[in-house]
Amino acid sequence: MRVRAYESTWIGPARCGKRDPVVTSDALLHARAALVTGGGRGIGRAIALALARAGATVAVTARSARELDAVVTEVTYTGGRAHAIVADLTDDAAVATLVTRARAVLGGIDLLVHNAGGAPPHGDFARAPIATWDRTLRLNLRAPMLLTHHLLPDLRRGTEPAIVFVASIAGMTGSAGAAAYSAAKFGVRGFAQSLFEEVRELGIRVSVICPGFVDTTLIPSNRKVDRARMLRSDDVAAAVLFALRTTSTAACAEIVLRPQRSPYVR
Ligand SMILES: NC(=O)c1ccc[n+]([C@@H]2O[C@H](COP(=O)([O-])OP(=O)(O)OC[C@H]3O[C@@H](n4cnc5c(N)ncnc54)[C@H](OP(=O)(O)O)[C@@H]3O)[C@@H](O)[C@H]2O)c1
Repeated sequence: MRVRAYESTWIGPARCGKRDPVVTSDALLHARAALVTGGGRGIGRAIALALARAGATVAVTARSARELDAVVTEVTYTGGRAHAIVADLTDDAAVATLVTRARAVLGGIDLLVHNAGGAPPHGDFARAPIATWDRTLRLNLRAPMLLTHHLLPDLRRGTEPAIVFVASIAGMTGSAGAAAYSAAKFGVRGFAQSLFEEVRELGIRVSVICPGFVDTTLIPSNRKVDRARMLRSDDVAAAVLFALRTTSTAACAEIVLRPQRSPYVR
């Protein structure tokens, strides 16, 4: 029995009616198979390590084999199980191959974490080449949609299945200089919210994490921001695990994470 069940104490059972016990999925992380995109560095690496520490078998994917291999080494060194799958998520054929390989190494997929993403340097939309913003949409919005499309049948067969999207504060409010990135992240939230409505009755949970500044290589250094005040990748990983650990009757739809102290230097 891999499920820990808690009997709920119902107040006023006549009004609430009899229901199944509330089930926490905490113990289930132990036996779950997770695919984490962008798992070679930054936030994705932190999520992969946290899931592995919780007992999940993890497949990490990105373009850099060297970074992925380092994560696999780190996980296996501490007694966990991890696999590296190199893929460019903007390449449809590569995504199809990734799906086949993930199925082969994981033997089934319970958790899908859409974390890979990126943005070109800030600049006015009017001057941005079409190919640049097209690529931003392709990586940040189309890729998670395509991967979800491929893997939904696997998740339907999964144990306590869940899909987590790493979006951004930029997907909640627009900002000058990052129009395509912001549009993509708004799109991710719209996709995730719609997907949840379609799969909630199947027991598949869908969560979105919206972080503010996180101290990773995605954020270029400049004199206007204090990196020490940014969120850490581990903060985002903790939010992902929080979302995955919600009880079976609750779905953690969205978490907004902001740095406690403003990273903007006054
Ligand atoms: N850092 C922040 O302040 C911040 C804030 C809010 C949201 N986010 C979001 O958090 C997520 C992770 O960002 P991060 O800060 O950890 O950035 P990061 O350190 O640059 O990591 C990005 C990851 O995505 C992978 N990736 C990029 N392009 C890819 C492609 N075409 N195909 C496959 N994988 C690709 C990268 O690996 P390869 O380059 O090897 O492919 C890397 O593993 C992103 O979705 C980002 O939008 C970040």
